[in-house]
Amino acid sequence: MALKVVTIDDLPIGPGDVSGAAVSLVDTRGLGDYEACMGSLRTESSAPVLGYPSRRRFTLDVLIEEADRLALLRAEARRGLTRRPKELPPKWFYDERGSALFDAITSLPEYYLTRRERAILRVRAAEIAAITGARTLVELGAGTSDKTRLLIDALDAAGTLETFVPFDVCRPALEAAGAALLDEYPRLAVHAVVGDFDLHLGEIPHEGRTLMAFLGSTIGNFPVEARVRLLGELRDLLGAGGFFLVGTDLVKDRARLDAAYNDSRGITAAFNRNVLRVLNRDLDADFVEHRFEHLAAFDPEQELVDIRLRSRVEQTVRVAALDLDVRFAAGEEMRTEISTKFQREPLERELSASGFAPAGWWTDRAGDFALSLWRVG
Ligand SMILES: C[S@@+](CC[C@H](N)C(=O)[O-])C[C@H]1O[C@@H](n2cnc3c(N)ncnc32)[C@H](O)[C@@H]1O
Repeated sequence: MALKVVTIDDLPIGPGDVSGAAVSLVDTRGLGDYEACMGSLRTESSAPVLGYPSRRRFTLDVLIEEADRLALLRAEARRGLTRRPKELPPKWFYDERGSALFDAITSLPEYYLTRRERAILRVRAAEIAAITGARTLVELGAGTSDKTRLLIDALDAAGTLETFVPFDVCRPALEAAGAALLDEYPRLAVHAVVGDFDLHLGEIPHEGRTLMAFLGSTIGNFPVEARVRLLGELRDLLGAGGFFLVGTDLVKDRARLDAAYNDSRGITAAFNRNVLRVLNRDLDADFVEHRFEHLAAFDPEQELVDIRLRSRVEQTVRVAALDLDVRFAAGEEMRTEISTKFQREPLERELSASGFAPAGWWTDRAGDFALSLWRVG
């Protein structure tokens, strides 16, 4: 994949578009040697366009530089691999390969979540646009922003949307989506932000009436305390009058939930094991993927799908960058993700307690998935 640097030809130029010193189209702050989520991607200089009167239609802010990312990975891997039970945060699935695998998961027959959420958006996007009148659309954990186009279309048709702000830890996904969106929406400015939910929410730029979308039931990956903290941060970031749109997968029949995370083609298993590849590549570890089995099962008490890797054998894995030998007993399990399943009333209580007032609740016909809209009171 090659970085698309937006050229002057892509840009509307007109009176009032001269933007003083800041005329580069790609903000190259902190791009340096960022590789982990980039494959062979290299940032090209924005120099050819400097000096042109132009409107900045694409900006990329990199809030987590390569050195910081590696330091964070080292700290989180050490903590997770030395605690009992072992655990790794799900953000480390998402290098370029992991994002592509997740994208493949979204079209699996067993993985109903994306189809259901898209179906709701298709019917409700215009209503959401009318209620929110958003000038800025922020998307947390944006990935490809595929379904989000339904919202962008509706806000564009309503004539209110000016800027789309996709925020994600995976830079290649943001760059690919950003380039496509610029082509598809000639009036839209895209201000992409590479950052971490845990560190950078407060730095997300937004102006005017703002709708913040958190789709894909990604909120279900947060344990409850972290979720409540997140909601408080989002409320503060949005401020009074801001809107929050969240996609949540609902509690349902156990067999369907188990099937959604154990697809017959093994894509979810490959996605789960991708974290081992990331550790091998970035921390010079020697995990052997097939020595770990993918496990995912609905826990009805906690109402979450618990996703783990189980060591098939007793083994010791060397993580050279941490100078750490990690012993796994045969059958030992390491949690890599949770996917919480929600019910309406408890979710409403949680959001209300965090300062959000309900502004819309929509489900698909089967009642599998909910999209809900909230206004900061
Ligand atoms: C479950 S996917 C959802 C993608 C897309 N929004 C959808 O609805 O299909 C989660 C997304 O969140 C991003 N992500 C995961 N952990 C993150 C973190 N700690 N900070 C920022 N983004 C993160 C991933 O890169 C991925 O794009």
